[in-house]
Amino acid sequence: MTNDRPVRRTGSAYDLPPPAYDETLVTVAKGTPAGELLRRYWHPVALSAEIKDLPMQVRALGEDLILFRTREGKIGAVHPRCAHRGTSLFYGKVEERGIRCCYHGWLFDTEGRCLEQPCEPQGGTKRENYRQPWYPAEERYGLVFAYLGPLEKKPPLPRYDTLETLGEDHFIVASGDSIGSGGPERMPCNWFQTHENVMDPFHVFVLHSTFSTKQFNEMMAVPPEISFGTSAHGCYSVQLRKFDDGTMLRRITEIVLPNIRIVADPFVRSFGKGNSVAWALPIDETNTRIFTVFAWPKSEPVPARFNRNPMYGGKTWYELDAEGHQRMPGDFEAQVSQGPITFHSEEQLATSDRGVALYRKLFRQAVRDVQEGRDPPNTRQGSEIVIKVEAGNYLMPQAALAGE
Ligand code: FES
Ligand SMILES: [Fe+2]
Repeated sequence: MTNDRPVRRTGSAYDLPPPAYDETLVTVAKGTPAGELLRRYWHPVALSAEIKDLPMQVRALGEDLILFRTREGKIGAVHPRCAHRGTSLFYGKVEERGIRCCYHGWLFDTEGRCLEQPCEPQGGTKRENYRQPWYPAEERYGLVFAYLGPLEKKPPLPRYDTLETLGEDHFIVASGDSIGSGGPERMPCNWFQTHENVMDPFHVFVLHSTFSTKQFNEMMAVPPEISFGTSAHGCYSVQLRKFDDGTMLRRITEIVLPNIRIVADPFVRSFGKGNSVAWALPIDETNTRIFTVFAWPKSEPVPARFNRNPMYGGKTWYELDAEGHQRMPGDFEAQVSQGPITFHSEEQLATSDRGVALYRKLFRQAVRDVQEGRDPPNTRQGSEIVIKVEAGNYLMPQAALAGE
């Protein structure tokens, strides 16, 4: 949906057409256009550290899942309703080989096979006829990933070079705080409006630099020259910030299709390739959780879960009252206030939105790929998928531009 509709001449709200959103971008349910695309990828559904001895319930792509780790160490992701008579496996018990339903004790392994039926004659002679609905699940980088799509299309779980080449002095830290350390776990809005923000570098020097103080860093507050492009895995923006001393910050931010972002440290604490990868999990159509994995320097303290922010007068984000959020809006306030699902029919895209428009175009193309029977981007079957990260903060002389 673009600006091809007639310009509203009076501007009166009375003239607004009925609001609508673009289903190609925002749907997540099975059988919907974007829901089928999203089901061709692995999604993080929990932090590994969140899976303890009890079953854990999560929601992903609008489906409720029970996660568990058997005492043998295998991760399972199954539908909550027991295949016998529907009691939730949330109340089950995690055992050596699987999860046992609390009602009649059927035991299921991580692929839903029924291993025991204690109330049936001889422990269930026909138990191979029953299967608990399950999904493939794997752990990596401190996250639990699940694949909710057709089994025959399951791609390998991708690796990211920046997380694979850790020196002695770094280790992996996984976070499920949607907006930086100490932020909320859940954003009550559609995932797409949070993710397209990655291709909106213009907001950095308004929202994050002039509106609610300089949230990041003096360098980031300099208005950049911005360009956009497509890559082997998705799309990116290049932001050039030139300084009086003849140097410039060349900052690259990228999207790996469909819902992965690689954003270099906005505080620019060091230069070089980005050290984090983040996924926007569509919990359902109106809720999102962002998981981030960092290659974290061992010399630096890992930020506390609920850190106090000088910008918030030493309070945590949670402690801000309504006025505090109004005076200090950040990404959460900007994106959640677009509505549970933003109305594309009411948008008026402008020149600064060309990165957003590019990402939407690539996403729609990927939706079409699935609809027309092609494999969408980054789902190559068979061999390993290793994503080479380009994003980063690179400091260089402005003279280096002459070579481009
Ligand atoms: S409902 Fe689960 S074993 Fe009967
Ligand atoms: Fe932002």
